[in-house]
Amino acid sequence: MKICIVGAGYVGLTTATALAVFGHEVLCVDRDQAKIDGLLQGKVPIYEPGLEDLIIENCKENRLHFSSNVKESIRDYPIILIAVGTPSQNDGSCNLSFIKQVIEIIASTINNYKIIITKSTVPPGTNEWIQQTFLEMGIKDDLFDIVSNPEFLREGRALWDIFHPNKLVFGTKTDRPLEVLKKLYQKGSAPFVFTSLTGAELIKYASNVFLATKISFANEMARICDVFQVDYADLHKGLGMDPRIGPDFLNAGLGFGGSCLPKDLSSLKHSALSHQLETKLLDAVMEINDTQIELYLKKLSTELPDLADKQITVWGVTFKPGTDDLRSSPAIALIQQLLQKGCRVHAYDPMVQLISSDVTSHSNQYESVSNSDALIIATEWEQFLNCNWSEVKSRMKRSIVLDARNCVDGEIVRRQGLQYMGVGKR
Ligand SMILES: NC(=O)c1ccc[n+]([C@@H]2O[C@H](COP(=O)([O-])OP(=O)(O)OC[C@H]3O[C@@H](n4cnc5c(N)ncnc54)[C@H](O)[C@@H]3O)[C@@H](O)[C@H]2O)c1
Repeated sequence: MKICIVGAGYVGLTTATALAVFGHEVLCVDRDQAKIDGLLQGKVPIYEPGLEDLIIENCKENRLHFSSNVKESIRDYPIILIAVGTPSQNDGSCNLSFIKQVIEIIASTINNYKIIITKSTVPPGTNEWIQQTFLEMGIKDDLFDIVSNPEFLREGRALWDIFHPNKLVFGTKTDRPLEVLKKLYQKGSAPFVFTSLTGAELIKYASNVFLATKISFANEMARICDVFQVDYADLHKGLGMDPRIGPDFLNAGLGFGGSCLPKDLSSLKHSALSHQLETKLLDAVMEINDTQIELYLKKLSTELPDLADKQITVWGVTFKPGTDDLRSSPAIALIQQLLQKGCRVHAYDPMVQLISSDVTSHSNQYESVSNSDALIIATEWEQFLNCNWSEVKSRMKRSIVLDARNCVDGEIVRRQGLQYMGVGKR
């Protein structure tokens, strides 16, 4: 099948590659000329394990192509899969301007039957709006089908998730595109969930909101553990063993970030409010998340009451390990607050070098702690978990280690003469 994917970002690029591996002929287009120029030379703009090799292989096999000519590509392809960004606006609502640009191009160029698949995460009602817009523009409904097909991949494990999805969700208005959709993903064995356009949109939002809720629940429990001097790790273990609860997304720490959970939570809240519906649970989830950094800084101030002019090292700046994505990273928000308090911030991250001119970036994790008053672990990269704590101790000025991801063994750290602090951790 011939598919045009609009947007060569984390979702578009990995989906384009996976569909090419399935044997389809895929053209991935982006309006970002530099991105496309790089891709045409084999340079992959994002870090995603295994992606670069697969892109090179599928380009060689002539199954995967790139172009910055968005209009022509959209006009010529029968299946259009939209994977452009849907970021937050200042009021928390979803910015649909990139989606609208693509819809305008499709509407102005459509001359034969197309299946238009929205993979971007969009607020409830968006795909119905697309359908309605086409009809109002005089495009007959036998010329197109709109499909809402949200994506559930995790950055850092995107290819695994696309090749082994736990379900594929399709929202449609008619049964007409179903056979094509099944063929598109026929190489996988995931169950299909068929629903309405808006049903599919809500399944995506509900998934992300549920994951965010689990994280804020864990963080509130960790605060309670702190008060009663109970180790949250014990709680996590006990909770996680219950199959009704499960251990995933129950780590206590700096809170959730990234390009999806915070924005989807605010967008859903905004959508509900536009229908005069209050979202008390969503508000609480957000409030807990928004105060996590404050909580950790309070913890730090018990040992370092005056943070001004202190040298603080932050390990990990991406929003989670296994990615180079800094969007809404709690580590970046933490660094900004440390800078506001007058700290001299040093940072080390295995994937990201230059953070900002206000921060001293290091390419070696041990060098980054030299002369520091405190070390904060902000992202739980594997290499921090079993690092050489005696080397850390020998380089630091003071010996405070604040584990803001509750990811290292406090006893091992303390044995090297360091002062270890976590949240909900004795
Ligand atoms: N990143 C994730 O982990 C993830 C997971 C599931 C769903 N999603 C959703 O998928 C969508 C895309 O996310 P992403 O992280 O891949 O975004 P991204 O910012 O990495 O990529 C979006 C791409 O779209 C391009 N683009 C924007 N407008 C365009 C236009 N008019 N024509 C052509 N190209 C255009 C941009 O240049 C950019 O390269 C979002 O709605 C997001 O919420 C993301």
